[in-house]
Amino acid sequence: MDNGKIIETVGLTKRYGPQTAVDHLSFQVEDGEIFGFLGPNGAGKSTTLLMLLGLSRPTEGSARVCGLDPIRKAREVKRLVGYLPENVGFYGDMDAVQSLEYVAGLSGISTANLGDKIERLLDLVGLKAEARKKVGAYSRGMRQRLGVAEVLIKDPKVLFLDEPTLGLDPDGALRLIELIHSLNRDHNITVVLSSHNLYQVQKISHRVGIMIKGKMVAEGSMEKLAQDKFGVGDKEYSLEEIYMKYFQEV
Ligand SMILES: Nc1ncnc2c1ncn2[C@@H]1O[C@H](COP(=O)(O)OP(=O)(O)OP(=O)(O)O)[C@@H](O)[C@H]1O
Ligand SMILES: [Mg+2]
Repeated sequence: MDNGKIIETVGLTKRYGPQTAVDHLSFQVEDGEIFGFLGPNGAGKSTTLLMLLGLSRPTEGSARVCGLDPIRKAREVKRLVGYLPENVGFYGDMDAVQSLEYVAGLSGISTANLGDKIERLLDLVGLKAEARKKVGAYSRGMRQRLGVAEVLIKDPKVLFLDEPTLGLDPDGALRLIELIHSLNRDHNITVVLSSHNLYQVQKISHRVGIMIKGKMVAEGSMEKLAQDKFGVGDKEYSLEEIYMKYFQEV
């Protein structure tokens, strides 16, 4: 990895025909941090994550994830990064244990002690009691938690979470945010957290990036962003107020 950077992009660009979804994006995510990835609908956040995963080819510019080119080193990058997409797909006929065995098989995880690992993960995400229930009968929050367990099975160094708390009730969202926090704090996993829930992002992020119309208009700690826009520390302003200020000025 290059100088403690988990992600580095330079001039990263994605065009779909005449439309520029990601426009010469340059930003960095540091090893060990939670990076809140913010921006309005259609800003280009999910497109950026897809390029960082090697699932979409940049039109221009470059990206490094753990020092690797996501297109040329696709397999290595996928091995290091756990990705929870916007819409998580499941096989409704399987229960949680079967789902995790299936995902482990797809990822080529060795089967030694897999049972123990699955049990530990289900405990970690709070699904132990529902382990044998068919996933088709899971609530949305339970499915999101299973999605987190699925991405953790390969022991990722980095997590890309695209709106993980969308549609969860307040208690479920809070518990998932606390889980993400503990994965970062206790298991040293770097997290890129894309979300429209600024209160949740503010609670656990070390730094945030605000993407608007394909460009990163702000990047840094909430303290720095508040200082840049209001000339005072972040104790005075919520992330929502800071975000709205940037949003209104673009
Ligand atoms: N496969 C595609 N083909 C054409 N246009 C696309 C494609 N994927 C994304 N776009 C366009 O790129 C732009 C950025 O979309 P993207 O999904 O990255 O936004 P986002 O920031 O994730 O938004 P949201 O907060 O709504 O999830 C949008 O205008 C979208 O319509
Ligand atoms: Mg998106």
